[in-house]
Amino acid sequence: MTQDPKVRLRGLYKIFGNDPAEALKFVKQGVGKEQLLVDHQHVLGLQDINVDMQEGEITVVMGLSGSGKSTLIRHLNRLIEPTDGEILLDGEDVMKLSEDGLRQLRQKKMSMVFQKFALLPHRTVLQNAAMAMKVRGEPEADQTREAKKWLDRVGLTGYENHYPVQLSGGMQQRVGIARALTANTDIMLMDEAFSALDPLIRTDMQDLLLELQTELHKTIIFITHDLDEALKLADHLVILKDGRVVQQGEPQEILLEPNDPYIEDFVSDINRARVLKVRSVMEPLNGGKAPKDAAGEVDQNESLEKIIARSGGDTTHTYTVTKDGEPVGTLEMKSLVRALVPRVASEAGARKS
Ligand SMILES: Nc1ncnc2c1ncn2[C@@H]1O[C@H](COP(=O)(O)OP(=O)(O)OP(=O)(O)O)[C@@H](O)[C@H]1O
Ligand SMILES: [Mg+2]
Repeated sequence: MTQDPKVRLRGLYKIFGNDPAEALKFVKQGVGKEQLLVDHQHVLGLQDINVDMQEGEITVVMGLSGSGKSTLIRHLNRLIEPTDGEILLDGEDVMKLSEDGLRQLRQKKMSMVFQKFALLPHRTVLQNAAMAMKVRGEPEADQTREAKKWLDRVGLTGYENHYPVQLSGGMQQRVGIARALTANTDIMLMDEAFSALDPLIRTDMQDLLLELQTELHKTIIFITHDLDEALKLADHLVILKDGRVVQQGEPQEILLEPNDPYIEDFVSDINRARVLKVRSVMEPLNGGKAPKDAAGEVDQNESLEKIIARSGGDTTHTYTVTKDGEPVGTLEMKSLVRALVPRVASEAGARKS
């Protein structure tokens, strides 16, 4: 990656309790979460977190309940103070900000989308969407223009003068997104933003976010405990367990090479054909020629599911893989089929035979 990360967490620790600094010594000596609680009555929230969040990407933080996801995201705007470590934003240490600097950061650099929407009940949809601009004291005409624009982008034209209670959950969260977009910040923090929604509405919202993102290129930190959602949205996926990062990387990589039984468990039920893309299972050309007997061309970012449908289930086919129309690799249906079997299962199969 050539550009510097937008957000960088370096050696971040968070310990809850009466004397976190003292407890930190034990943690650095190797005391784990459970032992810290039992022997020292402190909760280990986060432990040696090192994550780079790139500009214009969606970084998804995933983990089970209590793994430290919310604790992590709250450090970014210092709703929580770290016990140890650094939080760098555009290369600047957030811990060194003055009170005014911190206010600027919260008002101008970051916006949040919450799980329970957090709309003001006695304000209209338009007023809710315009909230950040109002707090910043920007002219009312600008507030209205921007809020209307983003409400329209999330499909809420005509609802400007309604109140939150008159809207469905999905629509309320559209207001939440419009509010974050109207704030016009580089960074959007989304903590379980879609978790309270029905599955179909949730899928719609994920699609909406991805569609907006192709235009807006925000730096988005998205928290979820849902692997399907994480795999769909993430450019960079960070998996937390007991306050530690167990694995991070491109979702495709994590799915193909899970490095921990906890993650193998997570990924074992996934529809791999839908998530895996051609580029993850193709043979790169590396300067060589595209195969002459190819059954056709496929784009490197197509899902394996699409290719299976196209091949009509014929496992003898080979395709030329293209990127922006240029050949970059070959895809044999046989390797595609192999990639559909999770590693643990395939190893178990190999052991049996
Ligand atoms: N203010 C606090 N005081 C003490 N312990 C806390 C506090 N906030 C969080 N914790 C603890 O830190 C750990 C991480 O909590 P956190 O809320 O970050 O988890 P999470 O991954 O967001 O979980 P969920 O999916 O349930 O929202 C948990 O063990 C939790 O009990
Ligand atoms: Mg949480």
